[in-house]
Amino acid sequence: MAGRSEGLALESLWHAPSTAPGDGIDVRGGLLPADLAALYPGELAVALVNERPTVIGNFVSSVDGVVALGPSEPAAGGGEISGFSAADRYMMALLRALADVVVVGAGTVRVGTRHRWTADFLAPTLATALAAWRADLWLSAQPTTIVVTASGNLDPAHPGLSAPDVPVIVATTPAGAERLNAQPLPANMKVAPVGSNDLVPAGAILELIRGTGARLALCEGGPHLFGEMLRARLIDELFLTVAPQIVGRAKAHRLGLVEGTSFSESHGRWSNLLSVRRAGDDLFLRYRFER
Ligand SMILES: NC(=O)c1ccc[n+]([C@@H]2O[C@H](COP(=O)([O-])OP(=O)(O)OC[C@H]3O[C@@H](n4cnc5c(N)ncnc54)[C@H](OP(=O)(O)O)[C@@H]3O)[C@@H](O)[C@H]2O)c1
Repeated sequence: MAGRSEGLALESLWHAPSTAPGDGIDVRGGLLPADLAALYPGELAVALVNERPTVIGNFVSSVDGVVALGPSEPAAGGGEISGFSAADRYMMALLRALADVVVVGAGTVRVGTRHRWTADFLAPTLATALAAWRADLWLSAQPTTIVVTASGNLDPAHPGLSAPDVPVIVATTPAGAERLNAQPLPANMKVAPVGSNDLVPAGAILELIRGTGARLALCEGGPHLFGEMLRARLIDELFLTVAPQIVGRAKAHRLGLVEGTSFSESHGRWSNLLSVRRAGDDLFLRYRFER
């Protein structure tokens, strides 16, 4: 299945009356320029947290809550969940266009062998309009990609890690840094050994984000990384696409995987619904988490 929902706009069905931020709150985004608004009418704006970078998440889920098929089908990614929905790709492109930083886990990078974590990769025909929007917002030409890995098991020649115009930071452990630094690295890549043992704590990821001067980071998962960020209460908003398929597998991955937590110590959090959009059979939900 390719190009599901091609050409369909994300029509607004509902938004919370209180989405306009109050005085003194900085906002990233706003009304979209005409070229981009044709497929996303209205406004896309994120209220920014003052004391730290704002972190938003973006996932596509099946109706039964599956975001990845899991270890039995390691080569399958979000595309298999969305049915390669063009509207979902456009939503992702707009969020990347707004972000200073895109954060992804190494599992997601290893699956997306040809991926680049930029807006133009997802919507190449709108690359000029997306770049112009970033320029209007005084953002750098491309968001920085931050990849999180304990092992350092990444191919530095991966197109998403080696494109000269996209700054890349690998957040890793000392052992991961040693593994990476043993190979020739592209000039755009910096290795940051900020973790220990087999973990890069969410707080260390936040500090790396902050160190780039970013105000808005987009965490695209996968489920393990997103779980760590959720558990640390560092996710401010979630943009969730619900794709109209039922996967029906017990061992598939859900959002926010954290091993070994009981419900009482779970990272689960309540959130407020901010908006609902629709493109064909795809639903686009936006939640803001309680702080
Ligand atoms: N539906 C969607 O919207 C969506 C979004 C993103 C990804 N996905 C899919 O999810 C699947 C991958 O799932 P996943 O849970 O394995 O993805 P993941 O979180 O991207 O990758 C897990 C790996 O990332 C590294 N990692 C994550 N958090 C870490 C931390 N706090 N400290 C150190 N290392 C950390 C580790 O890498 P090392 O093993 O190198 O140490 C870990 O094995 C893929 O199929 C992908 O396509 C779906």
